[in-house]
Amino acid sequence: MSPRAARRSKAHPTDPAATGSPWRLFLAVLLPPPVAALVGSLTAELAAEAWPVRWVAAEGAHLTLHFLGETAPERAELLRLALPPLVARHAVFDLRTAGLGVFPNPRRPRVLWLGLHGPTHRLETLHRDLGQALHGLNFPVDEGPFHPHVTLGRVRNTGTPAFPLRDLPDAIRNRLAGGSQCAPSGPPACPLPVREVALVRSHFGPAGSRYEVVGRYPLAPLKEGAAR
Ligand code: 2AM
Repeated sequence: MSPRAARRSKAHPTDPAATGSPWRLFLAVLLPPPVAALVGSLTAELAAEAWPVRWVAAEGAHLTLHFLGETAPERAELLRLALPPLVARHAVFDLRTAGLGVFPNPRRPRVLWLGLHGPTHRLETLHRDLGQALHGLNFPVDEGPFHPHVTLGRVRNTGTPAFPLRDLPDAIRNRLAGGSQCAPSGPPACPLPVREVALVRSHFGPAGSRYEVVGRYPLAPLKEGAAR
């Protein structure tokens, strides 16, 4: 079973000594208000198309680094102790938002996302280092390729789609041509400064998931004269 499938099938913490009910956790970079506003305007614009897509709430949108899944509260405590020095090994850097895209492929879109430009290799290094450390602490990390993105919406599992899914990417491209509030005459390009990693707990609810930040771990400040 793949780590992702194992996480999905796991209803209970793996630690037999666990007491409280498990926390559904993930590590993420939180979005600054202008990027959250961009997510809000893009999803509002795309929602007008009435596609069978569940759009994310702008205030909870994030850039996922690692999904940890159901975690015993004791293990969450271990994370809170382990994460500060791990994250502080990386210096701050600046990304910016890019165009829209879909997973897994344009013929069968399941997830619509906002991409990122800039030194994404720094994000990949941060992701890889955290993944290795998490693996060392026996957390089930995804070993597949990392595609940095901000999820905008997830296609709902409807029996008969209300629109031909294969048309979605074209439609997205058309919407993008109109620009956004951050870049009125071109594709969106909002600055996304990466200053900290957040440990986030996800609570399921009737209105979708609610996210609770349970820890914030700063990256190292830039050394004088160093490039971001
Ligand atoms: P993504 O949408 O950014 O790709 C919180 O639930 C976040 O964890 C989601 O936004 C999603 O990231 C990621 N996530 C949720 N369930 C997941 C799963 N079963 N496997 C991998 N990542 C998951």
